[in-house]
Amino acid sequence: MSRAACLLVIISLMSPAAEALDNGLALKPTMGWLHWERFMCNIDCDTDPNNCISERLYMQMADVMVKEGWKEAGYEYVCIDDCWPSHQRDAQGRLQADPKRFPGGIKKLADYIHSKGLKLGIYADVGDKTCAGYPGSLGYYEKDAQTFADWDVDLLKFDGCFMNRALLGEGYINMSKALNNTGRPILYSCEWPLYEWPLKQPNYTAIRETCNHWRNFDDVFDSWSSVKSILDWTAAHQDIIVPAAGPGGWNDPDMLVIGNFGLSHDQQESQMALWAIMASPLLMSNDLRDICPRSKELLQNKRIIDISQDSMGKQGYRTAKGNDFEVWERPLSKNRLAIAVLNKLETGGPRGFNIGAAPGWKICGPQCNVTQILPQYKEMGVQTQQSKIIVSVNPSGTALLTVTPISSDFRRLHKLNWQGTFVRRKHTIL
Ligand code: GLA
Repeated sequence: MSRAACLLVIISLMSPAAEALDNGLALKPTMGWLHWERFMCNIDCDTDPNNCISERLYMQMADVMVKEGWKEAGYEYVCIDDCWPSHQRDAQGRLQADPKRFPGGIKKLADYIHSKGLKLGIYADVGDKTCAGYPGSLGYYEKDAQTFADWDVDLLKFDGCFMNRALLGEGYINMSKALNNTGRPILYSCEWPLYEWPLKQPNYTAIRETCNHWRNFDDVFDSWSSVKSILDWTAAHQDIIVPAAGPGGWNDPDMLVIGNFGLSHDQQESQMALWAIMASPLLMSNDLRDICPRSKELLQNKRIIDISQDSMGKQGYRTAKGNDFEVWERPLSKNRLAIAVLNKLETGGPRGFNIGAAPGWKICGPQCNVTQILPQYKEMGVQTQQSKIIVSVNPSGTALLTVTPISSDFRRLHKLNWQGTFVRRKHTIL
């Protein structure tokens, strides 16, 4: 990033973020499970009853979420994506679930999910049809919002297929109002900017006022190239999108695909670490009924989740790049900083990176406490500006650390700003 661009980010991040959608939700990045990447539009319940889009899938996922520690780790929303409805609306014009795959209907499913202490998400589209060709909500925003509220749904993912792009903003805003008018708090997950980017630069102030999170870029696939492309897009647009994130509204780089088929363990660690740094919703799309213990442990890693859910709610971003390494940093509450070092070189073996070269290392003064979280948990103890800490990072893997300044005098005298540089307080009491 150029100095001027860097300054711009600093200025915009120091000024208060635009108002978030005021529905009291998503004060921290949403955590849960969403069916799309893993189960797609599998509606073949005759030959594949275990994996088809049916009430059974969500009930089983909810059961596992409670039994296997997911709920306890913070994963709360069980979310339906596309392909749940019948192709026809009912006689009153309401959306209805496919009767064969959801014999109990969505209200009953919501009751079940709630009985487990979890929340239910559903999917619809701002345009004529959903991306998979099911009925869209255009012309039915109030009706659909009321239907979802009547069913006690807790989250709506609102897609943007089959919509006149010039009317996207209006559509998303109208649905936001319709949800609000139901009086039920329904977390609103939008794809507005993703569909608007080809037309113009989205207005993130308006998006933040309208949505609780918003997709900016392509759908995630179960591959490292897909995860990398999301990171590259995010870094390339960070000046625009990072300032928009904060409690109540988040950039959404799409689902976590950890626990599936396409990512090596190092790559899974990279996705988990970087999604935490980016203050992204943590919506897993995998089969929790059948997941390998290492992926499970990673997804439930409390230290990484703590970074994701940090109360300050500032999104991190890429602060340095070179020698096939990328440094991503996120300012945390209590003056702490999370540093992720991604090894982009996909050849050779582990490579050493001197943490002192991370721009945010400045906060380690005069002393700091360093904890390494990935690839292994390690308390690195008290360090100074001069310490030379070399972390070893595997190809396409990530080292993740937190740095905590420890001198109380230092904290009294200085106020740490978001980027890890120091602003001297006007009135210091010595
Ligand atoms: C779009 C969205 C995906 C998913 C599919 C469903 O591609 O971006 O996340 O919801 O539609 O058809």
